[in-house]
Amino acid sequence: FAVVIIVGSMVITGYQAFALGMGPPSGKEVIDPQKVDETAPFDNPGVFEVGDKEYEVVMTLQAFSFDPGEIEIPAGSTVHFKMTSKDVVHGVQIVDTNVNAMVPPGHIQTITQKFDEPGEYLILCNEYCGTGHQLMSATVTVK
Ligand code: CUA
Repeated sequence: FAVVIIVGSMVITGYQAFALGMGPPSGKEVIDPQKVDETAPFDNPGVFEVGDKEYEVVMTLQAFSFDPGEIEIPAGSTVHFKMTSKDVVHGVQIVDTNVNAMVPPGHIQTITQKFDEPGEYLILCNEYCGTGHQLMSATVTVK
């Protein structure tokens, strides 16, 4: 039975890592954290409509804020987040969703989430990033 558990967890971890692409960001998409402000698309963070009820949010993280700090979208929208950090490792967790990702400096983290229910969704940093960590938050308003 123990062997079944061990092999089972290895298979699940392998499936998540290789088939689903979960895990630490790959080394492929790395930009100089010092030059995030000059590197597209992060030189222009914001919310961009890319289709019908489809948005791209280009977001930068730094101690202790998210840019943009307020995101507003209509209910039923699919949002493609593209994020990077300008300084240290931050995390992004969106309450009431499955979004929970690490955002290391210079790495490009992408995650897609659909927002069906209207409301205000809190975005929190969930990696300890310094003395203002607990103040680092943003909101997604779904109307
Ligand atoms: Cu950013 Cu904790």
